[in-house]
Amino acid sequence: MPEKVLVTRKVPDAGLRLLEGFDVTVLAEQPPERGELLEAVRGAAGILPTVTEKIDAEVMDAAGGDLRVIANMAVGYDNIDVEAATERGVVVTNTPEVLNETTADTAFMLLLAAARRLGEAERLLRSGRWDAWGPKQLTGPDVWGKRLGIIGFGRIGQVLARRTKGFDMELAYHDQYRNEEAERELGARYLELDELLRTCDFISIHTPLTPETTHLIGAEELRKMKPEAVLVNTSRGPVVDESALADALAEGLIFASGLDVYENEPEVHPKLLELENVVLAPHIGSASIETRDKMATLAAQNLAAVLRGKEPKTPVNG
Ligand code: DGY
Repeated sequence: MPEKVLVTRKVPDAGLRLLEGFDVTVLAEQPPERGELLEAVRGAAGILPTVTEKIDAEVMDAAGGDLRVIANMAVGYDNIDVEAATERGVVVTNTPEVLNETTADTAFMLLLAAARRLGEAERLLRSGRWDAWGPKQLTGPDVWGKRLGIIGFGRIGQVLARRTKGFDMELAYHDQYRNEEAERELGARYLELDELLRTCDFISIHTPLTPETTHLIGAEELRKMKPEAVLVNTSRGPVVDESALADALAEGLIFASGLDVYENEPEVHPKLLELENVVLAPHIGSASIETRDKMATLAAQNLAAVLRGKEPKTPVNG
């Protein structure tokens, strides 16, 4: 009997093709309701979820004793209770590396768009209210030549650092760990968080979501930033206190923000939706055709490897 595999969303075919030979159930385009997930997972030996599914002990127990692998189609795995999986002898995998370039592109896109007020400009034009070119119309700070502070200098943070070379930007970073090799290679300076917040013109967040990084940027941190600063977040929503950010943007404590992730996705703080000085994207950091194919492929390879008794390429828990 082929083993049962649950794919929680319609992921790219590039990944699904690799699951031939298993008894595969693919749920709908939209995220499943919790009850549907608990029902569909029964008897699964492998689950291939995305960031929208919370895979906790309840889901693992609903799957039952055959469950051996949870292969997340994402680099972040805060949607999975890794400890509960480890206790049950279930391997958890993620999809690092394959999305570095695309996610860094998204961060830089949001940085440029927020600084140069692209969202606001497009809204003006589409509304029919644009009546003439204006000498002071929609001006924002230059990006080139400014100082970028990267919070979280892992894979994506370092790829973003490379993006800045053509923009002659000065680079600073803050991370739990200092990386002197990357500092030398990329010409980035390590700063304590406080100094980074106070001195950078642009700040981009690339940390995983952990208890330590939850609300890493709150009211106090926002108050330290320059009034002309732009804050970009493509990591996970809860790293920034969304309500404090909305207040800071409304009060002009910082110039603008570019966000791809939110505290309670798909909800967005209502105040943010009203503000002109924030560019809001619906969690599209890795959404290039090529990258989504690669993520689905890697997730499926990981899942198939474990079910075939082999080592997965990118395990999270041992
Ligand atoms: C990830 O991989 O963690 C992203 O947030 C989903 O693209």
